[in-house]
Amino acid sequence: MSNRPGLPADIDIFSPPRYADEASLFRDFAYLRQYLPLAWVEREPYQPFWTVVRSADIKAIEKDHETFINAPRLTLLPKQVEAATIQAYGTRTAGVRAIIDMDLPDHRKYRDVASRWFIGAGLRKLMPRVDQLAERFIDEMVAKGGECDFATDVAVWYPLQVIASMLGLPETEAPYILRMTQQLLGAQDPDLQRSDQYGADAYVEFSGYLGKLLAERRANPGDDLASAIANAEIDGSPIGMVDALSYYLIAITAGHDTTSGAITGGMHAFIQNPGEMAKLRARPELTRSASNEICRWVSPVKHFMRTATRDFELHGQTIQAGEAVALFFPSGNRDETAFPDPDRFDIERNTEGHLAFGYGIHACVGRQLALAELDAFFGKLIPRLQKVEFAGEARLIQSNLVGGYKNLPIRYTIA
Ligand code: HEM
Repeated sequence: MSNRPGLPADIDIFSPPRYADEASLFRDFAYLRQYLPLAWVEREPYQPFWTVVRSADIKAIEKDHETFINAPRLTLLPKQVEAATIQAYGTRTAGVRAIIDMDLPDHRKYRDVASRWFIGAGLRKLMPRVDQLAERFIDEMVAKGGECDFATDVAVWYPLQVIASMLGLPETEAPYILRMTQQLLGAQDPDLQRSDQYGADAYVEFSGYLGKLLAERRANPGDDLASAIANAEIDGSPIGMVDALSYYLIAITAGHDTTSGAITGGMHAFIQNPGEMAKLRARPELTRSASNEICRWVSPVKHFMRTATRDFELHGQTIQAGEAVALFFPSGNRDETAFPDPDRFDIERNTEGHLAFGYGIHACVGRQLALAELDAFFGKLIPRLQKVEFAGEARLIQSNLVGGYKNLPIRYTIA
């Protein structure tokens, strides 16, 4: 192991608090992309892993889903937490087995259960509700009288209400779901933690809630995603209870914090780049391009991992069978070989191939929905937004998994 290129001791691209200071984090990523595209990390509190930071390398690894599989190690967890969770629940994921944890052939069978709700006719059916919610939250900004914490007042609620509608849940459930998802996904951030550090007991409580939903939708199916999952068949048999609950969990968690992170990061980027905001106001046809640039710029998902099933050569090194690689999407999205002048927020740029939604067979199933939510929100807000500025300290979530602003105080005038 000793002749492997180790990550320099003064570089850290994986500890949760690093994600609250993006300027220095992005400097580290840039250094690694240039000088050390593949580095071996043996550092507490994690089991060893490789860091992958270039766009082309992330894509090559994600594309080769036979060599690089999602089970058993999908995210960086401190090894004590890993060991305790395995001991308590039998797996590193506290018993959850969602599509993101699966490999072929199961992955395809389970992904097909929900994918039609997120594209084509399924998405079109949801769009009037997305538009209505976008308008409502803009009206609420108006009602707040020109000042709000955009993160906690608007951005966390809007995508959550979209998901709730899709699942067929009443709006009144949103505060509870928000509390649970923040404890699950933001569990690394001291402000959002519960009793344990990595959300395992939040999983248990939330599973009880979702179990009731499952039973109810089996008894009285409706035209919603929760019913589709509850009554799905896999290989001709009813979907298992754990698999259905895991599906609920991923639909709620994956579609929520990620999208709200993109919305807060988008607002922050517009305030810092008033020229881009003016451009969008003058040329609404750039809305979709702006939404993609927001996703590239923010990269709400910070990493996922894969485990090698065989030895694999990369940059003169051997990633050995059984070793894990961490793919850093924000770094791939600032890769200067993929995006000229990558540290410029430019709503007109060609964002094709950006990695905010991942790549390959696991690429985000909710991508079209997330972009539609961004289009609806900024497409309606920017033409009415006459003035906007920071009104306090913007604070990023300390998470190496899903990030965004946990506070974004702003002052504004909306027509
Ligand atoms: C801006 C918002 C979003 C971002 C940045 C995002 C990002 C991602 C990323 C990076 C992955 C993993 C891709 C990979 O491993 O290659 C993923 C997977 C996934 N996302 Fe999203 N996502 C967003 C919104 C959504 C929404 C709205 C939903 C659904 C309501 C959703 C549901 C999922 C699911 C179910 C997966 C697992 C797909 C699989 O394993 O096949 N995401 N997302």
